[in-house]
Amino acid sequence: MTKLGEMLKETTAFLKEKGVGEVDFGLILGSGLGELADEVENAIAISFSEVPHFAVSTVVGHAGKLVYGTLSGKKVLAMQGRFHYYEGHSMQKVTYPVRLMAAMGAHSIVVTNAAGGVNENFTPGNLMLITDHINFTGDNPLIGENDEAMGPRFPDMSHAYTPAYFEIAKKVAKEQNVPLQEGVYMGYSGPTYETPAEIRMSRVMGADAVGMSTVSEVIVAAHSGLKVLGISCITNLAAGMQSSLNHAEVVETTERVKAQFKELIKATLAE
Ligand code: HPA
Repeated sequence: MTKLGEMLKETTAFLKEKGVGEVDFGLILGSGLGELADEVENAIAISFSEVPHFAVSTVVGHAGKLVYGTLSGKKVLAMQGRFHYYEGHSMQKVTYPVRLMAAMGAHSIVVTNAAGGVNENFTPGNLMLITDHINFTGDNPLIGENDEAMGPRFPDMSHAYTPAYFEIAKKVAKEQNVPLQEGVYMGYSGPTYETPAEIRMSRVMGADAVGMSTVSEVIVAAHSGLKVLGISCITNLAAGMQSSLNHAEVVETTERVKAQFKELIKATLAE
């Protein structure tokens, strides 16, 4: 067995011992959106720091938790928080939770994030269905020897975000009267926010939103054969489109729309 295979064997054995059973959906809950995990029923919560082979978080205080249980009648394994490339973790460490979700039997993941709006029709507080991405991080989690047991050397990214899930999310958003934008997410490494020139470039390149996560996770999901639903919370207009950017604004906006966000995800899972 490969190194990665052995690591996953250890981590899955640990989770099973903790009572984690079958998984339908993996959830990755981005900045300010982690509260959804509090609604998981019959929850088993495990700190990231306890999980074998998880990255050691650089965030002081609240590192994040894995939460297993039932949400909208589905068995979910939720990441309340995630690992970021800008923390200094390798892309393999950042995406290990996605490998774990696949190893636990998930057929799909839901990835969420806070993002800056690049599309001029967006306003802060909009939710955006991610239909595709541009990996602009300058790295890729699949660089290195390919583990054939995990997936192919050259994965197809034509349908990395699952078209069948677009229809469900759009239908649910309509029923709930939640304005759901859609578009392309461009992933930067961070931790700086982009410059106004970079945002103009991103727009020309076809981006509708920018952020510092998600693309590496979705690459590994595609490699693993997982279906993907991606939702961004547009927390601000990107650099150059408003006077300045700060993290406080990102937090404030997610606070404002998190109820809508939670309802959208729950109802989409149910369907
Ligand atoms: N840029 C990058 N990441 C972000 C932004 C942004 O404007 N807003 C929230 N996350």
